[in-house]
Amino acid sequence: MRLVLLGAPGAGKGTQAKKLIERYSIPQISTGDILRKAVADGTPLGKEAKSYMDKGELVPDSVVIGIIRERLKENDCKKGYILDGFPRNVAQAKALDEMLKSLNSPLDFAISIDVSFDELMKRLTGRRTCKGCGQMYNIYFSPPKKEGVCDKCGGELYQRDDDKEETIRKRLEVYEAQTAPVIGYYKEKGILKSVPGTGSIDDIFNKIISILEKRG
Ligand code: AP5
Ligand code: MG
Repeated sequence: MRLVLLGAPGAGKGTQAKKLIERYSIPQISTGDILRKAVADGTPLGKEAKSYMDKGELVPDSVVIGIIRERLKENDCKKGYILDGFPRNVAQAKALDEMLKSLNSPLDFAISIDVSFDELMKRLTGRRTCKGCGQMYNIYFSPPKKEGVCDKCGGELYQRDDDKEETIRKRLEVYEAQTAPVIGYYKEKGILKSVPGTGSIDDIFNKIISILEKRG
């Protein structure tokens, strides 16, 4: 199964991707996670990406398209994958189509997770992520049992650098201007499915799998 998850910052792409990879045993490919790892490792890619990410702007297309081109060649993508945070504008969506055409492996679905802007702000300011396993929590909606500690692996929880209110505002603006048009792009291609992103994480997950398994 080859899937794109679309949605504004905080819509729950990462949260749902983590559940989908368990169910389908396919990898989550998050350009945000790949870039954050490069920043943490201090690689040349990380150094280039950091200035854009800190401002809430998109990293240049040439960089992220290159990352995806290499990542999709890896063996674990043969059974499929979940793209989370890519494509982020129409140019990236077109580049992805070209890549998949040459691999003869088109996308099955683009799933848009829709959440109102007010809710997004609360989700992002409350988000905490495990340094060890990447599990996501929210201090308002789904706190860990023990403050600052991951329920799953005991790892330390951290707050993302770009989850500050002013950077969040910029990310939401960039989403509206550049990423929202990708929804129309996939609608025209006939592979777009939309799910409301409010309600419990499990309810949203069940809606997504009923689309994927053609029960919805
Ligand atoms: P990226 O890492 O992709 O961030 P984003 O799109 O801003 O999305 P988020 O990860 O913030 O949100 P999410 O939808 O994954 O939500 P989550 O599941 O965590 O990108 C970061 C930066 O990298 C970009 O700004 C850009 O600079 C760069 N970048 C990345 N990809 C790029 C690309 N392709 N091109 C150019 N630049 C790129 O959930 C959020 C919170 O809500 C969590 O606390 C969670 O627990 C909670 N939550 C989830 N679901 C629910 C629910 N149903 N109810 C209540 N709370 C919930
Ligand atoms: Mg994410």
